[in-house]
Amino acid sequence: MRTEKFRDGYRRLFNSLILHFRPRSVQEESLRWTLTWGLGGMAIVLVILLLGTGVLLKFVYQPIPERAYESILHLQNQVSFGRLIRNLHHWSANALILAAFLHLLRVFFTGAFHAPRQFNWVIGSGLFLLVLFSNFTGYLLPWDQLAYWAITICTGMLEYMPGVGLWLQKLIQGGPEVGPGTLSNFYAIHTAVLPACLLILLPFHFWRIRKAGGLVVSRQPEQHEGERSRSVPAIPHLLLREVVVALGLFASVLVFSMLFDAPLGDKANPGLSPNPTKAPWYFMGIQEMLLHFHPVFALFVIPALMLVALLALPYIDYQVNTAGVWFASTKGRSMASIAGVTALIGTPLAVLADEYLIEVAARLPAIPTWVTNGLAPFALLVGIIAAFYVLMKKRYTASNTETVQTVFVLLLTAFVVLTVTGIWFRGEGMKLVWPWNIGTSG
Ligand code: HEM
Ligand code: HEM
Repeated sequence: MRTEKFRDGYRRLFNSLILHFRPRSVQEESLRWTLTWGLGGMAIVLVILLLGTGVLLKFVYQPIPERAYESILHLQNQVSFGRLIRNLHHWSANALILAAFLHLLRVFFTGAFHAPRQFNWVIGSGLFLLVLFSNFTGYLLPWDQLAYWAITICTGMLEYMPGVGLWLQKLIQGGPEVGPGTLSNFYAIHTAVLPACLLILLPFHFWRIRKAGGLVVSRQPEQHEGERSRSVPAIPHLLLREVVVALGLFASVLVFSMLFDAPLGDKANPGLSPNPTKAPWYFMGIQEMLLHFHPVFALFVIPALMLVALLALPYIDYQVNTAGVWFASTKGRSMASIAGVTALIGTPLAVLADEYLIEVAARLPAIPTWVTNGLAPFALLVGIIAAFYVLMKKRYTASNTETVQTVFVLLLTAFVVLTVTGIWFRGEGMKLVWPWNIGTSG
């Protein structure tokens, strides 16, 4: 009898603790697996895993060039479970980029950025940047050849930023080149500044979800917005699903980390650059653009425009609110498929054509390169996007939501193709190669 009373007391305490920052009830429709795919939940589990393993790594890791690489070797070979902790941190970090990116896509394609969720999209974009920068700053810490040269390539790109580029480069590098100053800067940013920003922004993200009355409610195109489904208590319905996703993901990352080691090259050698020298995989799309556009356009104009477009997305005048409808409508789905296929075929063709065109442009001495490699291809790109927009809008007599979504898919697919090209189809001297020839070419 007494133990039952105790158990009841604990259960009530546990429930009220969770309910303090969780909703008491949720709409049954928003619990559908096919609405969220559990992606936001997965992202938060990975963040927690990264914070936990990151703190453990700090007990052994030493952020000075003479000791950093050795401390990783020591961690891997002499510290109990050291290799596993490093693997968990490494694979969770990479998985987090994928989870956050797929979560962004699901939010976009279910129209969950419309009012009242506009600002949460902006907060989410901030989170995405934090995830990218956390990965980027962590990348340098093992201080191996891979890390040293990837970061050298990336900080080198800053030079081309108009006005503040050189100053910013020196500030980030903590000196004229990647060295001890860079390592201690990255370490402080990685283990203190960025985690603090994440911990501030995340509760804000969740608070906005509650303020919006919960998640968007999944509906068919013909169903009206605002038709509310049945409410069910969050405990156990939501909590149970969250626990299943969390445990499933944790088990998968754990097994993966037991089977596959995080890469570690030779110790960083500033006098010997590997060929090719590539940026981390999530920045390869930008490095690939660098091969086709003048650096000012590839590294500054295009990424800045992409960021502004991402932040402005929820504030465009869409006329209709398609929140909860996958791909906005049946027509939207067809248009998005056409855009995806167009970019999937068009981008590799453009990459191939450019290999040839760059040679032709080099033989035109009278025209400066910022015109032949910068303004001209950029104007061509803007022209293609505008023509595609007008063509699709007319052909389908589409709404704003449908056309904006179509252009989004076009650009996104093109960027993914560029990233894949950079990662797998570039070999020595960043020449185009077939991936299975790389091993035999050098
Ligand atoms: C560290 C990264 C992130 C974490 C941990 C996170 C976490 C979450 C969680 C747990 C949810 C509720 C469940 C779900 O939708 O799966 C959610 C919803 C949401 N997230 Fe994120 N998120 C992250 C990044 C982003 C990004 C990159 C965006 C968009 C740019 C975004 C925009 C939103 C929006 C608008 C909602 C509300 C969706 C709705 O009402 O259906 N989040 N987020
Ligand atoms: C979103 C959060 C985080 C991400 C995405 C992230 C990402 C990374 C990455 C990609 C590495 C390189 C791993 C490797 O290949 O060796 C790394 C290393 C490291 N991280 Fe994090 N990290 C995060 C949070 C943290 C936190 C909160 C701490 C500590 C408070 C931390 C401490 C470390 C340390 C000490 C290393 C060097 C050890 C090593 O490279 O294995 N990280 N991180």
